[in-house]
Amino acid sequence: MADSQIYLASTTAPVNIAVIKYWGKRDPKFNLPTNSSLSVTLAQSDLRTHTTASCSASYKTSDSLLLNGQDQDVSGARTQACFRELRSLRQKLEDSDSSVPKISTLPLKIVSENNFPTAAGLASSAAGFAALVRAIANLYELKEDPTDLSRIARQGSGSACRSLFGGYVGWQKGEQQDGSDSFAYQVAPASHWPQMRALILVVSAAKKGVSSTTGMQTTVATSSLFPSRANETVPRRMKEMEKAVQEKDFETFGKVTMMDSNSFHATCLDTYPPIFYLNDVSRAAIKVVESINAAAGKIIAAYTFDAGPNAVIYYLEENEKEVAGLFKAAIGEKDGWGVERGQKLDANSAAYESV
Ligand code: DP6
Repeated sequence: MADSQIYLASTTAPVNIAVIKYWGKRDPKFNLPTNSSLSVTLAQSDLRTHTTASCSASYKTSDSLLLNGQDQDVSGARTQACFRELRSLRQKLEDSDSSVPKISTLPLKIVSENNFPTAAGLASSAAGFAALVRAIANLYELKEDPTDLSRIARQGSGSACRSLFGGYVGWQKGEQQDGSDSFAYQVAPASHWPQMRALILVVSAAKKGVSSTTGMQTTVATSSLFPSRANETVPRRMKEMEKAVQEKDFETFGKVTMMDSNSFHATCLDTYPPIFYLNDVSRAAIKVVESINAAAGKIIAAYTFDAGPNAVIYYLEENEKEVAGLFKAAIGEKDGWGVERGQKLDANSAAYESV
């Protein structure tokens, strides 16, 4: 092997937006959640991370990570956990077959680009760590399946484990202390319910005030609402949501999505000091969805908010005019909103426009 040889692999990973939220860790070391969660992967949207992983003996520096052109610190426990696990899988391949190039110890260079605001509550860490893990797995030619890779991505960022799958994706919290049974699984492929659409309303592209990691730990430590959410409400809703997806029952899907978003933000408000992710514009979006559903006489639109003010509205293609059309007409490009109609893109679509 020539010293200057560069091994290289690229991939992209999409964001996912949870309809049953992950919020709370029972073990920060292995990044294990207090409750299971379920999301929709926006596989065909423009919201994705593109990542190239390479390694070479010629790299002067040790491991490095460039995100949107900026050098990132790779010494953090989460990035280190991903590197370590992937390297050890490559090492196994090298040990089992002497013809496999020994590249597991070479410095890694990771170059990532997000085509959406980083850390603005648009699931950037989900796409980011999913892409990082898959790019290195490709570079190392690992045979591990998405479930195995999801266990590794989970250690980078919890929500990232769900971006290893397309369609409707669950993340089971698991029971084991080492996290071996805390991984993502596909509830249904995107093709199962191809009419699903997602509209993303960008209220603010600013970095969020309280990071998910810090926020959820403070919630677990201080909120008295949190135990009932984690132990009773979410387990019940996981079952309802899986059934709704399987039966393509949008009314239940929509109702549970909105109630779970409300429940998550209620525990944020119940955190001390309180965490406010929603703002007046977010609340205006909730009102618009309520009026759309009232006019239809049933639930045809469902809002959900992550750790930021931006809204994601799920709806079915047949209601495009009533939902996306109305949002556009009601709010348009005014009042600091960036709204764009959900395009038909394979199964799930997202629209995103920077403001
Ligand atoms: C509100 O996955 O960003 O988006 O594991 O600490 O990196 P860490 O947290 P992260 O939290 C996501 C929280 C959420 C809900 C969700 O995606 O399920």
